[in-house]
Amino acid sequence: MRIVLKIGGNEIDDLEFLEKVSSIVAKLRLENHGVVLVHGGGKEITRFLAALGVETNFVKGMRYTDAATLDVVEMSLSGLINKRLVRSLQRKNVETIGLSGVDGTMLVAEKMLREGEDVGLVGEVMSVNVDMLEELMKRFAVVLSPISTNADSTSSLNVNADFAAAAVASSLKSELTIFLSNVSGVIENGAVLARLNEKDFMELKHNGVVTGGMVPKIEAAIRAIRTGVRMAFVTDADGAMKLISGENAGTQVTV
Ligand SMILES: Nc1ncnc2c1ncn2[C@@H]1O[C@H](COP(=O)(O)OP(=O)(O)OP(=O)(O)O)[C@@H](O)[C@H]1O
Ligand SMILES: [Mg+2]
Repeated sequence: MRIVLKIGGNEIDDLEFLEKVSSIVAKLRLENHGVVLVHGGGKEITRFLAALGVETNFVKGMRYTDAATLDVVEMSLSGLINKRLVRSLQRKNVETIGLSGVDGTMLVAEKMLREGEDVGLVGEVMSVNVDMLEELMKRFAVVLSPISTNADSTSSLNVNADFAAAAVASSLKSELTIFLSNVSGVIENGAVLARLNEKDFMELKHNGVVTGGMVPKIEAAIRAIRTGVRMAFVTDADGAMKLISGENAGTQVTV
């Protein structure tokens, strides 16, 4: 199978979390599955921006990405975080290659607006270099930073990691895509929903049950399912290990 894992930035500096994610990828590679790991990095980006004194503003829930902000985002995501993940997988003897969307024009994006408002150098993925990705996946686990290039390679663009994962999963026609976060699934009244379809999602969003970073995540999962991905789940590292071991876990997103 072609399996896309998106891992959130909340726990990317936690060794135990990295260890779990790496065990999942190691198991999948031993079973000869193709694996792409797309990563976020929110928390550490915030730390670096503060340390470097780069001030940022939020527009409609998204960080306005000016040139200075993009530099910090790209350095942390495509550098530090990407390489930390690569090393973590290599410690499990997984042959791994770490790239960003800029390398080999893996992800070509176009500047996007957020609900009609300018959010700076933020992009939406227009194309994925599937040929190159499939070639790499034969030999390596691919760790992919969502930072993308614009069409003429004059600028990088910051892309939301959930949407980058959805674009990769759709292009690959991935059989299984897991949005791995710090929650065991989509929670309503204290319980994890086993399934969530688009209609129920709209209602839960409207009622304020699904909020914050969970909103773009479910939107990304729905987009993936609509565009050729067979199964998409939202869960945490323990849930993901269960899913790939054939057990039930997390929330399956359906249309
Ligand atoms: N109904 C819900 N069920 C579960 N989590 C929810 C719900 N509504 C909102 N959330 C929030 O969504 C968060 C997950 O999204 P978030 O964007 O923070 O994580 P991520 O995408 O894994 O990380 P990152 O954005 O840094 O890559 C949870 O930690 C939780 O606070
Ligand atoms: Mg998020």
